[in-house]
This record gives sequence, C-alpha cells and structure tokens, in this order.
Amino acid sequence: MHPTTLRIIELFHRSGNSQYGHEAVTQLQHALQAAWMGERDGADAALITAALLHDIGHLLHDLPDDAPDQGIDDRHEVLGEQWLTRHFGPEVVDPVRMHVDAKRYLCTAEADYLAKLSPPSVQSLHLQGGLMNAAEVEVFRAHPHFERAVRLRRWDDEAKDPALETPPIGHFARYIDEVAGQGVTA
Ligand SMILES: [Fe+2]
Repeated sequence: MHPTTLRIIELFHRSGNSQYGHEAVTQLQHALQAAWMGERDGADAALITAALLHDIGHLLHDLPDDAPDQGIDDRHEVLGEQWLTRHFGPEVVDPVRMHVDAKRYLCTAEADYLAKLSPPSVQSLHLQGGLMNAAEVEVFRAHPHFERAVRLRRWDDEAKDPALETPPIGHFARYIDEVAGQGVTA
C-alpha cells in the first residue's frame, strides 16, 4: 500500500468519527458514501479518490463541528487542496477544491437544486458566497474539471443517509494507490 494511502486511512481512523456538521452521519460515513456513489456511477480512480477525500479539510483543522453556527466558514476546501496537492495531481485536487463552488453553481443553474440540500448545507451556502453571478458561472463552466466537480458534488449532497451501508475504507485503498504520488512535492 502507498504511504499516502496508509496516512489517509490513519487520519480517518483518528478523526473520522466526528460528526459531519449537523448531518446525521460521521465524517467517515459521509466520505465512504460519496466514494461508493462514485464507484457505482462508473467514475475513474481519481474521481473516486476525490469523492472519498473531498472533505478531508474538515479533519485537518481544529474548528468545532458547529463552526457555521458561529458564522465561521472553515474554508475546508482550501485546507483540503493544500494537503492533497502534495500527494495527488489535478484530477483529484481540482474537484475537491471546486466542490463548494460546485454547490453554488448547481443551486444557480438548476432551479430545484437548492430544495434538495440539507439545512446545514443551505446554511453554509450563504457563508460560502451564495448563488453565482453570470460571470462566476462562465468561469466555473470553462474549467477543464468542471464536469468532474459537478459529479462529485451530486454524490456529496446525497451522501448523508445514516441508513446507507457501504464497503469499509480498505475497499477504496486500491483507488488511492492508483493515483497517489502524483503531487507537486511527492
Ligand atoms: Fe461533503
């Protein structure tokens, strides 16, 4: 197993049992559900890895789970990007960095998307900048990983079901192994 894969499994074992904000699932359950949806949707190894790790920024900071209640945006997508850039290429890093903007995009582009979001996700949307203006939509759509970021976001928003069972994290190690070691300092 790649050393990065081992570190990720260790990080989830250490911090993955924390609650995913006010959602009914833990960080680990949320990550596994997102990755599993990606696998079932036929995503490649990089996008399944991105789905598993899209919220890793939440595991890397010391802010409380209810930071949004205090009006704090934890900027977890930026923390996640900084960490992931050391270990993975843009096929993994970009959809993670873009997953918050992908929510803003989907709520702007699809009239019914906002209604599908959980209340905590609506709360954080406002802290994250709310809907996009036309110029922001144009820039976002022009990004080479636009479609991957949007696919990841749809799994993210569904991966909050306390009753949904998934394979354990070891099942996804093969995908991380396939794409680890392609970061800028790896
Ligand atoms: Fe998420």
